[in-house]
Amino acid sequence: MWSYNNPVKICFGAGALNELPRYLAKRRYALVTYSDEHFKPLAARVETLAGPPELVIDNVKPNPDFATVEQACEQWARANTATQVVVAVGGGSVIDSAKALAAADGDFSRVRRYLETKEESGELGRLPIIAVPTTAGTGSEVTMWATLWDTERGQKHSLSRAHLYPETAIVDPELTLRMPQSLTISTGLDALSHALESIWNRNINPVSVEFAIAAAHEVLATLPAVITDPRNLDLRTRMAQAALFAGLAFSNTKTALAHSISYPITLDYGVPHGIACSFSLPMVMRSAIGEDAVCDVTLQRIFGQDLHAGAERLDRFLTDLGVSVNPADHGVPATRWHRIVNDALAGERGQNFIARPEHVISTMDVHIPA
Ligand SMILES: [Fe+2]
Repeated sequence: MWSYNNPVKICFGAGALNELPRYLAKRRYALVTYSDEHFKPLAARVETLAGPPELVIDNVKPNPDFATVEQACEQWARANTATQVVVAVGGGSVIDSAKALAAADGDFSRVRRYLETKEESGELGRLPIIAVPTTAGTGSEVTMWATLWDTERGQKHSLSRAHLYPETAIVDPELTLRMPQSLTISTGLDALSHALESIWNRNINPVSVEFAIAAAHEVLATLPAVITDPRNLDLRTRMAQAALFAGLAFSNTKTALAHSISYPITLDYGVPHGIACSFSLPMVMRSAIGEDAVCDVTLQRIFGQDLHAGAERLDRFLTDLGVSVNPADHGVPATRWHRIVNDALAGERGQNFIARPEHVISTMDVHIPA
């Protein structure tokens, strides 16, 4: 028995942003975006399309933390608006911040309490969200969770509840045309990681599998090409769709070991999320091979019959993009790396992984230089 559910309305294609007024339907909105110069014209375009927002929150930083979101909530409360919907225009950090703001509805202590006690007190906000991603990778536009960091305490939290599925995802590949190369690579690899992590996953289902295979194929074929031809709308469209499909896959399975490994590496070594959750993919893939028949067959549909050769191809794919598969090159010493993998296996996402822990440990020892 299996089930698949994703309630997000999707509007996809070049120029899709022009459809915002239709989805907004004259409701009063708060705009969440970045303050960078690059986003000013985009915010102005949203205003031209949809009228002035009730409120603009633009203090969003990569890896949104409690302090920044709390500050935004105070701004929200001071503005005392009658906001009916949150419009998020940006990357994963913006969309995740918008989810936290929608749940806080002006009072961050509600979110903090919920994250710390894990008890659904019924007091969290339920404002709808319209997500407009400007990167191709996060998948947050079709998931019901947001990653928030308590940097003071060195903790990563996942705010997860059905109300956080955006009401609508407007995916306009034209918005990704000016993404810098490093962001194109890290977000594209995040998408690949979402696709593969939904395959070596205990929550796999026949729908998520098809989205994941299509996404992985497309990222492997397209990401190197988009790096050499970044203004190519066709390639950007293919990457945007791959990232969306990866999102639709892992929205139902959650992630697995590579993401579990990534969190302390982002927190303690400052490695961007998309790199931290992808440099270990070949190692994680090797430890998955032979552990589960459905996983093997699915990976073969992406990498061909010989999965060990496929893992080597994945090694080359990453290194050709300038991403080392050696943790030491990301600043992680061997002793810490072993601890991170052990902790990751015990973590919630790590437990989604299909392989036996002892197989992971032995595979890692063979393939990771000391
Ligand atoms: Fe991710």
